[in-house]
Amino acid sequence: MSIALGNKAEGAAFFDRENERQDLWRYLEGDHVVLSGPRRLGKSSLLQRLADEAAGQGLLARLVDVGGVDTPAGFIDALDRAFPDQTIAGHLRGAGDAVDRLMSRLRKVDMTLPGGLGGGIELQAPPDAAWSQSARHLQERLSQAPVLLLVDEVSVFLEKVLARDQPDTVRLLAWLRGWRQQSGLACRFLFSGSIGLNALLAVRSRFTHWYQRLERDLSPTDLTFTLRILGSVATADQGLTRRQVLARLGKPDPDRRAARLDQAMLGLEEDGYLDASGEHIQFPSFILRDYWRRNHGR
Ligand SMILES: Nc1ncnc2c1ncn2[C@@H]1O[C@H](COP(=O)(O)OP(=O)(O)O)[C@@H](O)[C@H]1O
Ligand SMILES: [Mg+2]
Repeated sequence: MSIALGNKAEGAAFFDRENERQDLWRYLEGDHVVLSGPRRLGKSSLLQRLADEAAGQGLLARLVDVGGVDTPAGFIDALDRAFPDQTIAGHLRGAGDAVDRLMSRLRKVDMTLPGGLGGGIELQAPPDAAWSQSARHLQERLSQAPVLLLVDEVSVFLEKVLARDQPDTVRLLAWLRGWRQQSGLACRFLFSGSIGLNALLAVRSRFTHWYQRLERDLSPTDLTFTLRILGSVATADQGLTRRQVLARLGKPDPDRRAARLDQAMLGLEEDGYLDASGEHIQFPSFILRDYWRRNHGR
């Protein structure tokens, strides 16, 4: 056997990793997976092997290397192009029995989730991202399809895209997280990358649940208005008076603006987003203020 350095081991050159593969297929039935480890550990080769044997599991798998991608739009486009509609249709026709077995296993897994976990999450990308539409389209197209997205070199991609535009990256991660947590998903993700991947994913999205809660609970119009409030208050170190907030909001007309601000503040105070007990409306902690400033400051 010749050993080709720097290449994925494929076919007969691949020694079996039987246990890892069995484990991964089992994990993937119940959840998505993050596979992280140092370079040259054999992650990409393992992904390739999973891709090769996925059809037997009822899944259409594609290995998508995002190491050369440096924007959220490029990331979405890479996933989109890996799974054309015709290919999915062909898989459904060709692997019919395996797909049926997979779907009934997935249904069982889903039913064990506490109280329809994530059931209220809408198919919706963050409204203020340039790539929202293509994200929503991809999500709608793949959510109910028995596909496995094997996304390799995620940490390389994240480092690049974070350096270019951190708020946009946080929005991308928040969207991906919302998608992964959606209930009744047929599609599965396996993200792979170097050792820092888990930390990168965790740290950067530590605060996104604040954003996601708003996204879940508010209509798109109210969400936009509320984000403008938070973004305005976030840019002032000591917070803003109610009058200052109103001046910064700009729209709608003054009467409706004041009424909508009061309405929005009820929720924001109640849920601990903002503190309006003093003269200034402000964030209860500077950590939160900085999060909103970084991501939605205006
Ligand atoms: N299961 C395997 N059987 C044989 N060779 C392997 C296996 N896994 C990895 N290799 C070899 O080890 C090297 C690194 O593998 P690779 O999959 O690129 O690792 P990583 O993606 O973790 O950096 C490659 O030369 C590859 O051919
Ligand atoms: Mg690799």
